[in-house]
Amino acid sequence: MLRLSNFSHSSWRLMQCQPIPLQKSQRHITTQQRCRQKEEPNTTKTALPLRKRPTQLTDEIIRVDHAGELGADRIYAGQMAVLGNGPMGKTIAHMWEQEKEHRRKFENLIHEHRVRPTIMVPIWNVAGFMLGAGTALLGEKAAMACTVAVETVIVEHYNEQLRQIMESPKPDKELLATITKFRDEEQEHHDTGIDCGAEQAPFYKAITEVIKVGCKTAIAISKRI
Ligand SMILES: [Fe+2]
Ligand SMILES: [Fe+2]
Repeated sequence: MLRLSNFSHSSWRLMQCQPIPLQKSQRHITTQQRCRQKEEPNTTKTALPLRKRPTQLTDEIIRVDHAGELGADRIYAGQMAVLGNGPMGKTIAHMWEQEKEHRRKFENLIHEHRVRPTIMVPIWNVAGFMLGAGTALLGEKAAMACTVAVETVIVEHYNEQLRQIMESPKPDKELLATITKFRDEEQEHHDTGIDCGAEQAPFYKAITEVIKVGCKTAIAISKRI
């Protein structure tokens, strides 16, 4: 139990910002300075532009798309780790650069709208890299089959979101433009995969079906938690 007798006279004076006698070791700083330190805000922190809290739809879209673009970034990172020095290196690097840009955009939106990222971020980070590197280890065509499967799901997912935004009472124009641009780039990635022989990969049907189910599951989880 807090007793008044435990409360020293100097403590009370400190709370009042009144000068108290200093001991020798404390003489480099005055009591007033200490009080000022408490009152002055920390101005060294970077100020982020904050916006109004988003609608439930925008909140969900930003969270799930941030997770998806993070996963895509890691998939291409995994492909580059295995195939980066081979003939497919430049093609994969170009797609990876675009994925990094997509990820940056959704990271900014997460901060600006104060959206909670999915708690699955660390899992998608590792799973994405393993998927990219794992399929690349099976060969260039298997890597492209992975690209085709992932991008098919992402294009469908973005088209669904575009419909939802357009049907909402107040469509978010910035999100609409962002998702439209990214959807078009994901479609290009899909087409690049096909052009680079994805369909000739061994077990193409099986590989793409398994990856599609995995991506759809990841999307469903990231929307909720
Ligand atoms: Fe992307
Ligand atoms: Fe993509």
